[in-house]
Amino acid sequence: MINEPINNLHDLVDQDHMQNWYEQTGRPFVTLSWAQTLDGCLTLNQGESVPISCQKSLDLTHFIRSQHDGILIGIGTALADNPRLTTRFSNGASSAASINGNGRAHAHPRPIVLDSQLRIPARLRLFDHPERPIIAVAAPTTDTQLAKYSQSADIIQLPPTAEGRVSLDALLDRLGALGIRHVMVEGGGRVLTSFLNASCANQAIITIAPIFAGGYNAVHPLKEKNWAELPRLQNVQTFPCGSDLIVTGFFAQPES
Ligand SMILES: NC(=O)c1ccc[n+]([C@@H]2O[C@H](COP(=O)([O-])OP(=O)(O)OC[C@H]3O[C@@H](n4cnc5c(N)ncnc54)[C@H](OP(=O)(O)O)[C@@H]3O)[C@@H](O)[C@H]2O)c1
Repeated sequence: MINEPINNLHDLVDQDHMQNWYEQTGRPFVTLSWAQTLDGCLTLNQGESVPISCQKSLDLTHFIRSQHDGILIGIGTALADNPRLTTRFSNGASSAASINGNGRAHAHPRPIVLDSQLRIPARLRLFDHPERPIIAVAAPTTDTQLAKYSQSADIIQLPPTAEGRVSLDALLDRLGALGIRHVMVEGGGRVLTSFLNASCANQAIITIAPIFAGGYNAVHPLKEKNWAELPRLQNVQTFPCGSDLIVTGFFAQPES
């Protein structure tokens, strides 16, 4: 599919392509997917939750969720949006079964939260998810802290980056070892920027709504300052979706 025109929005996600990547690398295929305004904003103010997508795009987003083993967000998004991270719209659960019945083990992707200091409140909605959430931490944890989540989540301890955050390389190795073959990364801005900086993403599926916000950007200043070396999409395709526009493409991988 990667080089072929997409005729059906459901073909935005190619299970065979993702599976091949997982089998070749042992790491999950990473799809960055977010909704932004025409001027590249995720929201008006950081920490504020706003409805950007039209209903048709939301349906599509939930379908895309249903096609991934994991759905990943940062603690900033967990606190701001308190998302359920399930596939509620577009009959996502049954779509997953009927369209890719052999490719998906679960109808709802497993939630994964990057939370270096393990500060996520245990009352958030994602802890009611049908699949047990994974909380990735980068600081030492105490038995008291772990006990708080023992019934509701798996805490995985990973080495910190120089900034004290979760190392994405170590995270993807661990998720692959857990059998998670594909991960949809939904944000927010700091997490999306980290995936771009670490060159850890395979595909982007971006919903663009016809709004100007002058607000909080999806992508923050990148460490790469050389224009020719910036993260760039290949095989780009665009589709109208309700009142929004969907843009998708693939990141060049070192061996390609
Ligand atoms: N429009 C959309 O599609 C969309 C999607 C998602 C979110 N949003 C919006 O985006 C905003 C939240 O974005 P945000 O940038 O504040 O938060 P975020 O990206 O969701 O979370 C960032 C936090 O994750 C933790 N983290 C751990 N390891 C990390 C790593 N390797 N790289 C980056 N972060 C890491 C850090 O906190 P610790 O150091 O404490 O671990 C960091 O501050 C909200 O307003 C939300 O509504 C919009």
